Amino acid sequence: MRKPGDILREILKEKGIERVGTLSRKWPSGEDIFQELALLLLEGDGAIVKLQEPTAESWDLSGKKRGPSIYAYVRPCMVEKFEVVISREDLMRRLPDYPWIIIDLMFWHKHIPKEKGKVSLQLRETYAVARRMFWPRRVAITWVNEEFRKMAKLPLEKVEASPVPTAEFLRSRGIKRVVLLDPNAPEVLSKEDLKEKAFIIGGIVDMKGDKKGTTAKIGESLESQGIEVLRRKIVLRGDVVGVPDRINHIAEILIRMLYGEDMEKAVLAVQAPTHARWRLRKEIPKRKIRYLIDGKLYLVVEKELYDELKEWLNIRWEDFVKVLRETGMVALERKRIHHLNKISVYRFDRSGGKRVILLKRVALLCYNC
Ligand SMILES: C[S@@+](CC[C@H](N)C(=O)[O-])C[C@H]1O[C@@H](n2cnc3c(N)ncnc32)[C@H](O)[C@@H]1O
Repeated sequence: MRKPGDILREILKEKGIERVGTLSRKWPSGEDIFQELALLLLEGDGAIVKLQEPTAESWDLSGKKRGPSIYAYVRPCMVEKFEVVISREDLMRRLPDYPWIIIDLMFWHKHIPKEKGKVSLQLRETYAVARRMFWPRRVAITWVNEEFRKMAKLPLEKVEASPVPTAEFLRSRGIKRVVLLDPNAPEVLSKEDLKEKAFIIGGIVDMKGDKKGTTAKIGESLESQGIEVLRRKIVLRGDVVGVPDRINHIAEILIRMLYGEDMEKAVLAVQAPTHARWRLRKEIPKRKIRYLIDGKLYLVVEKELYDELKEWLNIRWEDFVKVLRETGMVALERKRIHHLNKISVYRFDRSGGKRVILLKRVALLCYNC
């Protein structure tokens, strides 16, 4: 799968067009102007035409500003005056009919007002992700009601927003099987699953902590209406902890995977340090060593663990220190831990054992270091 911007670049290359200028003040800006330009064309907002006189400036296919070009983007009112070289239809022909990314608002009414605000915000952000990386016309929002329409503040006419239940939406498009993205699913989303025609994300925000397992209920409802549901989770090294769970983040991870990125890379592309800290709180304690020094218990981890975890978690040193503080642990260099091990004796206890050091020996250790 490729995004519309890449398809537009491909068509331009095939036609031997290396740069495009504009006769309109409405010229896309941002990270990928050809993606924005492709979306303008797809929305029926103009075409790329051949001019008699070149424009003063243009943009090459990598988005860099260049000199004159006889090819330019023009607004719909100007299209008829020129020879059209790329139109909406040229792009449409190359865009696949699938996949659909569906945000299911079946449980909208279960949210308190603050949560509804968050659902709306996350859907606006999902729309932004779809513009940047996908095609908003392949994003559907189901179970849309008046309250959501008022709160959403997003151009609902540019996505497939519909009051119908998801099952009805799927039936109307001949889709009988879907992937339901669910953090509590028994199976991990695989490459094979990415070939399906529709992916469902629950329009759910859980600030009160009372919606655990709600996504699965969307699946049960679809199954009761004859849709086959593949419940799948997105994980980071085997665990959902550390995977951002906002609707827009899940949508971006999914889109990245649809473009061929592997799951870990896709998760890390959207993981903020806050999400990474969730996972740190789980990973650090797994590596703790217990020392009883002069009757006082110390929980110690290797300082080098930070470098190890940094390889697959978006953490900074301050995140590592923050979690150590929260969990009451200290970090020591590996060589110091080896030294502590040498001067201690191992004792089994009910918590799995600890290393015991007499104070006299610690003094010796500190003197040595
Ligand atoms: C904030 S989550 C709500 C999860 C809800 N509390 C539950 O237990 O079902 C919003 C949506 O993001 C998606 N999601 C979040 N984390 C996910 C993960 N690790 N794997 C798959 N989907 C996930 C699901 O579609 C979910 O409905």
